[in-house]
This record gives sequence, structure tokens and C-alpha cells, in this order.
Amino acid sequence: MKKERAFSRETEILHQGAYLQGRRDTPENAPIYLTTAFNVDDLDDLEATYAVKGYTYNRTRNPNRNALAELMTYLEKGQRSIICGSGMAAISTILLSMLASGDHLLADSTLYGECITLFQKVFPTYGIEVTLVDFTDREAIQGGLRPNTKVLYTETISNPMITVVDIEAVAEIAHQHQARLVVDNTFTTSVAMKPLELGADVSINSLTKFANGHSDAVAGSATGSEGITFGLMRVSVGIENPDDLILDFNEALEVFK
Ligand SMILES: Cc1ncc(COP(=O)(O)O)c(C=O)c1O
Repeated sequence: MKKERAFSRETEILHQGAYLQGRRDTPENAPIYLTTAFNVDDLDDLEATYAVKGYTYNRTRNPNRNALAELMTYLEKGQRSIICGSGMAAISTILLSMLASGDHLLADSTLYGECITLFQKVFPTYGIEVTLVDFTDREAIQGGLRPNTKVLYTETISNPMITVVDIEAVAEIAHQHQARLVVDNTFTTSVAMKPLELGADVSINSLTKFANGHSDAVAGSATGSEGITFGLMRVSVGIENPDDLILDFNEALEVFK
């Protein structure tokens, strides 16, 4: 059980994800949960485990993924995080959760190239309209809005053009339009920048990059502010495998700690 006491930020970070739900033993270094499922005593126990969102099946919940999600939620100052198999898995999972056929996505024109491919070549096949405009130009953003614009999407510092967007201003435009703002925080990392505090609704990280630090693992995260639910994550699409996570990220996330 976590104690309700205020510690320094550094101490808080050190303990994020350190306590495994439902377990009394708290090893200093979390074991890798290489299992597809978790045993229960009987149907009552199963029901009780479901009730507290305990561990039953690896795809839906896994202690190692939860630990990293807890850390990302803390670092991003959000409400909830998901951990996916890559940054692209996080981006596509989140956007497909927030957009439906007939919706419009307004995205920055300078983004990581594969996002542009995803938005321009794949999303239209699902009936999702996409427009790319320069997000450093407020008039261009305003001009790109349509009545069916549901999501605005940008990067804190864009890859590879290194443009810097005023997240607060874009969030204001999005919310005035009843749309959501999704921000890719990969280049700044959640240590240097907290898009949710600036008004974004979801902050995404390719943990493969600076967050990993060791260039030895591929993973992604998405952290939502209050009220954001990740539809597709109810069935845990695109989640990260715990062995990859724990072997590489336990060590690499020491960079954050
Ligand atoms: C800014 C940015 N976002 C997302 C991605 C995709 O991340 P991943 O390679 O983990 O899928 C990248 C990859 O280079 C990136 O630079």
C-alpha cells in the first residue's frame, strides 16, 4: 500500500510502478511476468479479481506494463496511460479510438513521416478525412477546421523539421471547436514537457527514443487527461510484450529516475 505522504518529485518518481496491485511482496526489481494468464482460486475469486481490475489475462493487464503506465501517468501528469508495442501503435490505437468514419482529423504538416503516411494513405480508407496544415500558423489551423473536425494532432517538437508549436494556443482552438488535441511528446519527453498541463487531451510518446535512452527497445505510450477514454484499449489492441518492456525499460527508465 502506498503511504499518503508528500515526498520530493525525485522520490515520487522512484516509487512509481513499484507496488504490484494485489501482491504483498514488493521486490526491488520487478520480476518479468512471462505468462499469458493468472490463476484464480474459483469463480468467486475470478469475479473479485475482475471487480478490482486485477490480473487475469496478460493482454488486458500485466504488472510490468502497469508499472510503466503508472510512471508515464505520473510523468505526464495525466489520469491514465496505456503502453503499446511502439510509438506508431500508440498513435494509431489512440486516433482510431477517437475518430470514426465521417470525422475529420486536422494535423500538423510537419510530422514524423510515417504519421503522414498513416493519416494520408490509411485513415481515408476508413472514411476519416485528413487535412495537414502548418500548426505554427494559427490562421492556417483556424482555416483548416471543419464542422466534423474531431481531433487536432501535432508534435511538441516536430521530427524532422524541428518546428515548435504553441500547444496552449492550439489546445484553445481545438476546445473552442469541441475537438480534442493529441500531442506527440517524443522529442521533448515527459521530463521536459507536459502537454496535458498546457491543455492537450492526450500526450503520446515513442518510448523507443529518448525515454528508452539505450536504443534497445521499441515501445510507445499514450497518457490521457481526465475524461479521456481509450475505446480500443478496452480490448487492449497493440499492447507491449512484458519481457521486452521489463528487460529494456526497467534499466532505461532509470534515466527518468
Ligand atoms: C516524433 C515521433 N513520433 C513517433 C515515432 C514512432 O515511434 P516508434 O518508432 O516507436 O513506432 C517516431 C519515430 O521515429 C518519432 O520520431
